[in-house]
Amino acid sequence: MKFLKILILFISLQLTAQQGGMWIPSLLEGMNEEEMTSLGSKLSAKDIFDVNKSSLKDAIGHFNGGCTSEVISDKGLILTNHHCGFGQIQSHSSEENDYITNGFWAMNYSEELPNEGLFIEFIIRIEDVTTRVLQGVTSQLSEKEKQSLIDKNSAAINKAASKEEWQGSKIKAFFKGNQYFLFITERFEDVRLVGAPPVSIGKFGSDTDNWVWPRHTGDFSLFRIYADKNNRPAKYHKDNVPYTPKHYLPISLDGVAENDFTLVFGFPGRTNEYLPAAAIEQITQKVNPSNIEIREAALKVIDEAMKNDNKIRIQYASKQARIANYWKKWIGENLGIEKSNAIAKKREFEAKFQVLIKEKGLEETYGSTLSDLEKLYAEFEDVAIKRSNFIEVFIRNNELMHMMFRLYQMESSFKKGEESFNKSKESTIARIQGIHKNYNATLDENVYNAIISFYTDNKDASIYKSTNFTNTNTALEVLQGDAEGVLKKLNDDSAYIYAKPFIEEFYNTINPEYQRINTEINALQKTYMKALMEVMPNERYYPDANSTLRVTYGQVKGYAPRDAVYYNPVTYLDGVIEKYIPGDYEFDVPQKLQDLYAAKDYGQYADSNGKLPICFLGTNHTTGGNSGSPAIDAHGNLVGLNFDRVWEGTMSDMNYDPEICRNIMVDLRYVLFIIDKYAGAHHLIEEMDLVHPKG
Ligand code: ARG
Ligand code: GLU
Repeated sequence: MKFLKILILFISLQLTAQQGGMWIPSLLEGMNEEEMTSLGSKLSAKDIFDVNKSSLKDAIGHFNGGCTSEVISDKGLILTNHHCGFGQIQSHSSEENDYITNGFWAMNYSEELPNEGLFIEFIIRIEDVTTRVLQGVTSQLSEKEKQSLIDKNSAAINKAASKEEWQGSKIKAFFKGNQYFLFITERFEDVRLVGAPPVSIGKFGSDTDNWVWPRHTGDFSLFRIYADKNNRPAKYHKDNVPYTPKHYLPISLDGVAENDFTLVFGFPGRTNEYLPAAAIEQITQKVNPSNIEIREAALKVIDEAMKNDNKIRIQYASKQARIANYWKKWIGENLGIEKSNAIAKKREFEAKFQVLIKEKGLEETYGSTLSDLEKLYAEFEDVAIKRSNFIEVFIRNNELMHMMFRLYQMESSFKKGEESFNKSKESTIARIQGIHKNYNATLDENVYNAIISFYTDNKDASIYKSTNFTNTNTALEVLQGDAEGVLKKLNDDSAYIYAKPFIEEFYNTINPEYQRINTEINALQKTYMKALMEVMPNERYYPDANSTLRVTYGQVKGYAPRDAVYYNPVTYLDGVIEKYIPGDYEFDVPQKLQDLYAAKDYGQYADSNGKLPICFLGTNHTTGGNSGSPAIDAHGNLVGLNFDRVWEGTMSDMNYDPEICRNIMVDLRYVLFIIDKYAGAHHLIEEMDLVHPKG
């Protein structure tokens, strides 16, 4: 009996232990390959990542540094999320040509729209350069000296890296600085908008459904990479031609069923899986709550204005989405940490760790690591909150203050001389023009009034009446002329006079103090990471996300977040119609989609049960930056497009729990259905490679 219990426990541990983790794609041989196979994969490590032959990795591009995208045709057609391409869709939109509301479909190459500044970057090669990066770094050096030596070594490695002249390279730290990798990259800068569904499909459910399951969003958009006549990266040019990729993903028309293997390949941004309990407590109980309050107050103003004014709705669409997204994420993260008892469990784990240290005779080396970390986090608390609140109020939510922040940086650059000032002036002008492109001064003033008291009692809304920076022309007027003249005018501006002391405090006191403690924390986190690997060598360790290419894998699975509640892993078009609220800004459904539903006109895109699949869930461990990542089946075909996580599992950035953490993907058959049946863009379907792996 007892043996049976232990056996069952062992088996279930084995099963759950195989989930979670964001793995380095060049190091999958061995453990990961075995795990993937046991989860149903037919792929070898080399199918996924190979530097000598084309492999899946050649189809995966970092989209504008923040999202992921993949190549889906031999003509450089690119798939990513609607919310990843949203800035571009918005920038081509006006009240007359409202691509947000109506969608956009280029019916041939000449209609595809260029996007200044947009880029897609591929990974050519990955090399472990740890020994060279850490050469000469000894424990005698201060943290500052260590870092400057690391920077110097890295610069030398970058310089010496063997690569083609059109390729780039970068070095990134892994496992908290215990390991370093060099990435050789290829960056394409002529990326054109090809297609986007209307927002009522691409962002169906909007903020109400964001981070929530069941989900019915067709969160996709299409782009195309253009290259020069040698198929190399080039700036936009009308003579550029569609890029011929080394690899593109075939698309499966067979979809996935519960327990099928899936692999998500992309560029996760940032996770913190090895934090001590004290840090999780601080983030969820102190930092998140104050930031949530600030954003909530700002959103109330912005949402109201967007509802009442069509021009503002278009102008503020991206800003609102950005602010709302993490506002809601933080709420979910806090709830998840609380409900899963994550802090108490972490403390238990830490107690066990402490015992093992003793048992292994490592007290001298690691005995005080955790308690030192705890002390540092306590010291960190006030400044961490203050800095975070400053960023929210002065940079992320209020645009006039954001402009002042940039202008302060410009003024500071004058200390480095006229040339540096002029360079900074150029970028500040661009920044201010960018803000003013979609700016409403009254709305911004209302945001100021709503949030400033979260940071200071010194509130003065009269600055909005007299400042030059709520108007594009008068703002640019201030920035006209030589450094001295510009700085004189700037320092006479009411908003600048108001904001400057806060920004000075940030630069002179808050940020240096924050950095000082943070440097010490990072050094200890590095030690803690090393200690974990040494003390518990049989655990699975994966490096925290750092915006580099990663593989995560799992299975299609539902979940049970609370007593008596079980969520199925697949949604259908029926659910879109269930949620339909005529005329609603979140849940309206285009007539054409209703008609297709009524006629059950799904073509080759229906599931075997005759229904049209919309989204599905998996146990893949993802985070921000994985948006737009392909979900790949056991054979290497594209089956889904990652775009979100479930509410109960948003805590996975600090605490991945395979029981309830799920990523949300759009079923590729819904994407194809919208392109084909809804938009009639058959020419796009024709350039793809549609396959039936299940026969
Ligand atoms: N939550 C997803 C992500 O983090 C989707 C965001 C889309 N934005 C929105 N406000 N609905 O990016
Ligand atoms: N929507 C997120 C993104 O933009 C992905 C969802 C997540 O954070 O897991 O990357």
